[in-house]
Amino acid sequence: MPTVDNPAGKTLAELGAASPDEVAQLFSEVRALFDNQAAKQLDPATWEALKQVWTGRKSGVLTLITDNWLKPATPELKRAVGQELNKLKAQVESTLEARKRDVESLAEHAASAKDRADLSLPGVLRPVGTHHLIRQVFQEIEDIFFSIGFSVVEGPEIETPYYNFEALNIPEFHPVRDDMDTFYLELPKGAPGPLLLRTHTSPVQIRTMEKRQPPVRVIVPGKVYRRDNPDATHSFMFHQIEGLAVDSDITFCDFTGTIDYFVKQFFGESVKTRFRPSYFPFTEPSVEFDVSCVFCGGSGTAKSGGTCGKCKGSRWIELFGAGMVDPAVYGFVNYDPKKVSGFAFGIGIDRLAMLKYGIDDIQAFFQNDVRFLRQFP
Ligand code: PHE
Repeated sequence: MPTVDNPAGKTLAELGAASPDEVAQLFSEVRALFDNQAAKQLDPATWEALKQVWTGRKSGVLTLITDNWLKPATPELKRAVGQELNKLKAQVESTLEARKRDVESLAEHAASAKDRADLSLPGVLRPVGTHHLIRQVFQEIEDIFFSIGFSVVEGPEIETPYYNFEALNIPEFHPVRDDMDTFYLELPKGAPGPLLLRTHTSPVQIRTMEKRQPPVRVIVPGKVYRRDNPDATHSFMFHQIEGLAVDSDITFCDFTGTIDYFVKQFFGESVKTRFRPSYFPFTEPSVEFDVSCVFCGGSGTAKSGGTCGKCKGSRWIELFGAGMVDPAVYGFVNYDPKKVSGFAFGIGIDRLAMLKYGIDDIQAFFQNDVRFLRQFP
């Protein structure tokens, strides 16, 4: 804070000024003092302090000069003091005003410099991620089915036993429930239940047919859960795409033709498909689709000459389960089994991704090691 060690606290007599020249001399000292203080670097607070020191109503320098010099001045000096004082006042006021503008624009500048970007600098490079391979394979498969008129629906991962089992023609104590070791949710006492993590995407078949009348042509991508111990081919969470087509005239031929089209689109025109009898409670007949071994070209012999390790010389690789929708299922959704027919399939995404991209450990999908993920940009 500027302090004033100036003569304004004393009277002219005390200062020994007896002539107009001496008065002018005194004033020029005071002006020099002011100029000196006003020339310093100021911020809003020090500017305010300077203003108080010089123009403060009670004890500012200008007031002191008025009280101590002007009022008691002898008639000979009064005129000179008055003129000098007016000059000083004008100077103090205009200088303060000018400094105020500097101080303000400086403060503004300092504030905006903080947010101002230097547009000439190179931008911040954000590493762009990619879709996880599983997501990419979902997309590939969805695109293939979109091209033949299917659309996507989704369903909940937390399901009721009714949708996961009963309505799919799997009554309680049916042995296939053992193959799908199920996670049941621990629920608060009194809460309606039981609830489970869906073991397959098939419950969405039921949910879809409850809501829509034929023709139905949907695929259902999603996560499913089974109480498996993790190893190279098992994970307690994996991915499926369910497919369901129901209409008034769908034949077994439509079914196998659709699957064959899909498999060839996915693995390439050169592969062959076949199906074998299988069993699912909600399809009849049920089949297992195989593709000619994508590693040995269906020869059973590895490039090195020995037996192909992937198909173990069998020339075929098991792909996924499917079948014609069991008429019993239609009973759960109020479709007339005499009027409609259809097929369903359940594709394991992780397995297909492993086959297509030569990955031999399903755990690689869940470890999220960027060195692995980066190989599938
Ligand atoms: N839901 C069956 C499974 O997860 C697969 C499947 C789906 C079979 C649709 C037939 C029809 O094993």
